[in-house]
Amino acid sequence: VLTRTPLIAGNWKMNLDHLQAIAFVQKLAWSLDDAKHDFDAVEVAVFPPFTDLRSVQTLVSADKLSLAYGGQDISQHESGAYTGEISGAFLAQLDTKYVIIGHSERRTLHGETDEIVAAKTKAAIGHGIVPIVCVGETSDDLEKFGPSAVPVAQLKVALEGLKPGADMVVAYEPVWAIGSGQAATPEQAQTVCAALRAVVSEALGADAAAATRILYGGSVKSGNIAGFMREPDVDGALVGGASLDVAEFAAIVRYQK
Ligand code: G3P
Repeated sequence: VLTRTPLIAGNWKMNLDHLQAIAFVQKLAWSLDDAKHDFDAVEVAVFPPFTDLRSVQTLVSADKLSLAYGGQDISQHESGAYTGEISGAFLAQLDTKYVIIGHSERRTLHGETDEIVAAKTKAAIGHGIVPIVCVGETSDDLEKFGPSAVPVAQLKVALEGLKPGADMVVAYEPVWAIGSGQAATPEQAQTVCAALRAVVSEALGADAAAATRILYGGSVKSGNIAGFMREPDVDGALVGGASLDVAEFAAIVRYQK
């Protein structure tokens, strides 16, 4: 039986400058080291702002930390006149393993469409970076279309034209649960994550569906993580606010304890 290594990912959003990032990563590493955390059993990744990535890379490589890290966005373009954008090549040079794509804040505040998300997903894979493709419905969508329709439609477009074989992660983040303190129930998360796995299966085949990790995100805390992780189609969490506190994030990572 194929097992998916759970992934606990901390999306810092626009928080922690590069000095704070160094202090945070050191403390997190110490805390998980003290707890003898097995990184092969539960993978841990942080997503700092772009300006922190070089510092995080230096620390992770100097201390040989098992912590993974990634960018919060990637350009769909390779290079050129795209002021303010960060290319996949730049991210790959800093050994970023992952990149978050299509977070609801980028969709809402920066007009990212499903097509842009699809292009960014291809760009990440092209540079050997694992995309974490975010999908999720608003509370209006939920009322109008039910639980899975919008995330399923978003993921279908994001996967168009991909070939099976590339490592990929999907994150289900209901917009109404992000930063609201009102998390989905584990059952709600399971329903949508199962529907998303079916989309991966249809687009890329059963093997890809069995290998792809699907995360839940939206008001995850140390007090509710275990419930999500018990669900068969939830393979980890994308954590926002609670990932900014070392002790709280470490407690989420250690959800089994
Ligand atoms: O990407 C993670 C995020 O959107 C969830 O945020 O603060 O509800 O954990 P939060």
